[in-house]
Amino acid sequence: MQNVQDYIQKNKQRFLDELIQLLRIPSVSADSAFSQDVIDTSEAVKTALENAGCDTVEICETDGYPIVYGEKTIDPNLPTVLVYGHYDVQPPDPVELWNSPPFEPVIKETETHPEGAIFARGACDDKGQMYMHVKALEFMVKTGQLPCNVKFMIEGEEEVGSNNLGVFVANNREKLANDIILISDTGMIANDVPSITTGLRGLSYVEVEVTGPNRDLHSGLYGGAVANPINALTKMIASLHDENNHITIPGFYDKVEELSQEERAEMAKAPFSLKAYQKALDIASVDGEKGYSTNERNSIRPTLDVNGIWGGYTGEGAKTVIASKAYAKISMRLVPHQDWQEITQLFKTHFESIAPKGVTVKVTPHHGGQGYVTPIDTIAYQAASKAYETTFGKKPIPQRSGGSIPIVALFEKELNSKTILMGFGLDSDAIHSPNEHFGVWNYLKGIETIPYFYHYFTEMKR
Ligand code: BES
Ligand code: MN
Ligand code: MN
Repeated sequence: MQNVQDYIQKNKQRFLDELIQLLRIPSVSADSAFSQDVIDTSEAVKTALENAGCDTVEICETDGYPIVYGEKTIDPNLPTVLVYGHYDVQPPDPVELWNSPPFEPVIKETETHPEGAIFARGACDDKGQMYMHVKALEFMVKTGQLPCNVKFMIEGEEEVGSNNLGVFVANNREKLANDIILISDTGMIANDVPSITTGLRGLSYVEVEVTGPNRDLHSGLYGGAVANPINALTKMIASLHDENNHITIPGFYDKVEELSQEERAEMAKAPFSLKAYQKALDIASVDGEKGYSTNERNSIRPTLDVNGIWGGYTGEGAKTVIASKAYAKISMRLVPHQDWQEITQLFKTHFESIAPKGVTVKVTPHHGGQGYVTPIDTIAYQAASKAYETTFGKKPIPQRSGGSIPIVALFEKELNSKTILMGFGLDSDAIHSPNEHFGVWNYLKGIETIPYFYHYFTEMKR
């Protein structure tokens, strides 16, 4: 690869400025108040892909936010890489916890990013990581080094469950045909410990509603005599884990893939400091399923967590009241072979069955998806590994992640394609949290590494 570092050095400021412009648009897909901004962002992505050298770029309308689709074909006999990413972002809330406004990007140094990091919602997840691919394409096209065909599919609904992407993929199999899917929407272990994500967890997300009496009641006149929906809900939730932190839903573990001792020993070789982990989160101890390490708990094991819980009086002061209703949002992270719709059904049946007398329970599924494991004995994985080795000077470690990108399993089903997850974010980049950021070094390293993937993949495919 000629001059990739030179090209990046020469264009560094512009690469940063362009990303900063993109981060200024608040493309929050969850909140309809931002709908025009989400649409404006799709237009900005289209322009960026055109400028980078795509032959054609279209805005594909869906029942929700549009999908930006671009391609550059140099020779139909050469392999095709399909890049997927998302231009929508999480809501910035709680805004008051940001040190600078979420949509006014600033570059500041941090302990893990001495070269500076861009602070803004979406900096790492996923605008910054998606844009590395746009700039890598620009480099390859402008210097005449694009070795294969490329397609881009950038969606605007990832953070709300990609509901319309599945339909788009199923209806456009031919258009999206490819030899490998490439995604940068995950992380790596550390800047001096490169890793490639080889697993994503599945997800089942549900909302529960517990109803007691037909109206809010005086807690003195009725307390102790009728079921209190909040008491009932918290008891029910507490019963979902046993004393070893195993999940108690019957059948929940039936299809869980058990890894061999060899595989677990291999995984345990990845550098990890429990002390640093606890310190970074200001916790005195970790907690989780008995018999598994922290890294296993958040990658190869399924989990159940309450994401939000509410009901009754939460305003200032005190109000003596027994609420009529109580609610919670619950997510279950799943591992390979667990089917998210089956798990959703198991949850629903079990949760309804444990309701005490005097309340009724409603379980509403939100969204979900299957987990995914990338095989490492493929040309694509070897090409990615060589790319990292070239630019980091070290062989990357394969590592399963705890997060979810449900569309990846769907790609395999609909397009029969494998996915390579080249993530350049760090766990400390605070995605979905206040003060999300993305290292300037990581951004530029991604732009440098991606062209090598194209190069080795095309070469090894021959
Ligand atoms: N990019 C993340 C997923 C991710 C982050 C995977 C880091 C691995 C490492 C993605 O945008 C995301 O937030 N996914 C959601 C699921 C989605 C259905 C809302 C998640 O994992 O909670
Ligand atoms: Mn993402
Ligand atoms: Mn996300």
